[in-house]
Amino acid sequence: MLRIEPLSRRHDREGFDCGNLELNDYLRHTARQHTDKGLSRTEVLVNDDAPDEILGYVTVGLAEIITDTLPPRYAKKYPSKAHGVKLARLAVTKSRQREGLGALMMIHAMRRALQVADSAGIIGLFVDAKDTAAGRYYRRFGFIPLPDDPQKLFLPLATLRHALHEQ
Ligand SMILES: CC(C)(COP(=O)(O)OP(=O)(O)OC[C@H]1O[C@@H](n2cnc3c(N)ncnc32)[C@H](O)[C@@H]1OP(=O)(O)O)[C@@H](O)C(=O)NCCC(=O)NCCS
Repeated sequence: MLRIEPLSRRHDREGFDCGNLELNDYLRHTARQHTDKGLSRTEVLVNDDAPDEILGYVTVGLAEIITDTLPPRYAKKYPSKAHGVKLARLAVTKSRQREGLGALMMIHAMRRALQVADSAGIIGLFVDAKDTAAGRYYRRFGFIPLPDDPQKLFLPLATLRHALHEQ
């Protein structure tokens, strides 16, 4: 059975390869430090059959949003600054890409964002896409590109709630 759990020393970080050096290095060298320092939180996708093998990982943190960077119909609803959850990193091991594991972790990140929304208040989930293909991937989940920088995308809280309700 597939499980998403906090990254720990037990997991084989060296064995993970998603095809992107920066994302591999972050998992190997930085993710645990950032969790320990309270900067972000990384969780990994594993299978009970081989619980040390990392199939994918997702990192989320918090972000302060300058709201006039949002599309106008959202910008006008908010004061000049607000808070969001940032989907900082999302990656799936090369041999298991395109099986829906990325989508599984995306939904997990959306649930995490909803927990923050319900306990502290956020306006949505934010992500920086590393290229236009990644941007297309995020748009599938309802993310909207920001007008001045379409590589930055925003999933409004109402869309997020709606998407999770449909699950
Ligand atoms: C991007 C990534 C997280 C998607 O996870 P996944 O489990 O492979 O994707 P899913 O199975 O959930 O979704 C598959 C669909 O997403 C799209 N997709 C998958 N990887 C993609 C990528 N790198 N760029 C754009 N679209 C992608 C495909 O259109 C695919 O649909 P198809 O099977 O009909 O062609 C994963 O492929 C990955 O780790 N890639 C390398 C690292 C990376 O680029 N991360 C994004 C950082 S911004």
